[in-house]
Amino acid sequence: MNKEYVQIFDTTLRDGEQVPGCKLNKEQKIILAKRLDVLGVDIIEAGFPISSPGDFDAVYQVAKTVKNAVVCGLTRAVQKDIEVAAEALKPANRPRIHTGIGTSDSHIHHKFRSTREKIIERGVAAVKHAKKFVEDVEFYAEDAGRTDNAFLAQVCEAMIQAGATVLNIPDTTGYCLPEEYGAKMKYLMEHVPSIHKAILSCHCHNDLGLATANSISGIVNGARQIECTINGIGERAGNTSLEEVVMIMRQHPNLGLDTHVQSKMLSETSQMVSDAMGMIVQPNKAIVGANAFAHSSGIHQDGVIKNRETYEIINPHDVGVDTSSIVLTARSGRAALAYRAKNIGIELTKIELDMAYASFLTFADKKKEITDNDIPEIIKTAGIGL
Ligand code: KIV
Ligand code: ZN
Repeated sequence: MNKEYVQIFDTTLRDGEQVPGCKLNKEQKIILAKRLDVLGVDIIEAGFPISSPGDFDAVYQVAKTVKNAVVCGLTRAVQKDIEVAAEALKPANRPRIHTGIGTSDSHIHHKFRSTREKIIERGVAAVKHAKKFVEDVEFYAEDAGRTDNAFLAQVCEAMIQAGATVLNIPDTTGYCLPEEYGAKMKYLMEHVPSIHKAILSCHCHNDLGLATANSISGIVNGARQIECTINGIGERAGNTSLEEVVMIMRQHPNLGLDTHVQSKMLSETSQMVSDAMGMIVQPNKAIVGANAFAHSSGIHQDGVIKNRETYEIINPHDVGVDTSSIVLTARSGRAALAYRAKNIGIELTKIELDMAYASFLTFADKKKEITDNDIPEIIKTAGIGL
């Protein structure tokens, strides 16, 4: 099957960096941007240049450094923001300005005290202004998740006419259900007359834990860009997790969709971001969590030792993890103990294993996890000579 490519727009350095207490300095941003470039993301959103001189400089340096990916800077629909972003992006091989405005009635009435017509006018003016500096202009309709679909289609058409190349449909508050978000994309594909001239982009927040599901629903219904972050970091409950959407497309070839991401670099990239931000990855995080390929119950361990695929749908090598791990706890069985003992060079006969297992359970009830160092002691206690 010929696959279609979904553009990966990484916003770890912008939306991801909005995690309280996890600000990155310029040097860290440059290191991570280089890494994202070799990881194979298509677009790197490097920051919000008008927000501070430091962020301006970081975007400028990232623009100078990145070789392959498009480098993008965020702006509000404000002329000065756009001019500053254009300046920061000057050294980029492939610059993109990401501008936009809130389009939900809540944003229009409460945030802007404006009207739908005036919001379209401001958006159009922003896109046209950005077009004076760069060819590639992305427009975000903030809070699109709660924006009336008919109005959103009007907004999208006006922005394409003004020159936008990408239309970002953010579920800013993480409110949508997957069916709803997918239906929104389908509606736009069917009701925006010039949609063939632009790409629809998914930008989903995770307030209800649905960011990944919503993004996948978006691409199934016609979007061809996903905005995401490494480890799913970002405002509040975070953004769509890059590693999740990439691996969903890899593990489900029937979707007919793929990305250019080098999946073998995912685990290390996750660690780099976690270290730079001082933010640990939850152990049960899909794909990159410490327990993503760890098996601790006896039934699962027995299955995995016989054939990895009984309890693993992803080969750990595909995401840069050396091997699945068999964790020894009081819930582990004989197969796991024999396997771990063999890994450190101790082959146990069936009788020896029975003896060692009784001693193992006594140890394991006292200790949360049995390590390789404990195994010889357990075997000795069982009266087996090594
Ligand atoms: O969540 C959001 O709406 C955003 C936009 C600024 C793109 O991050
Ligand atoms: Zn966002």
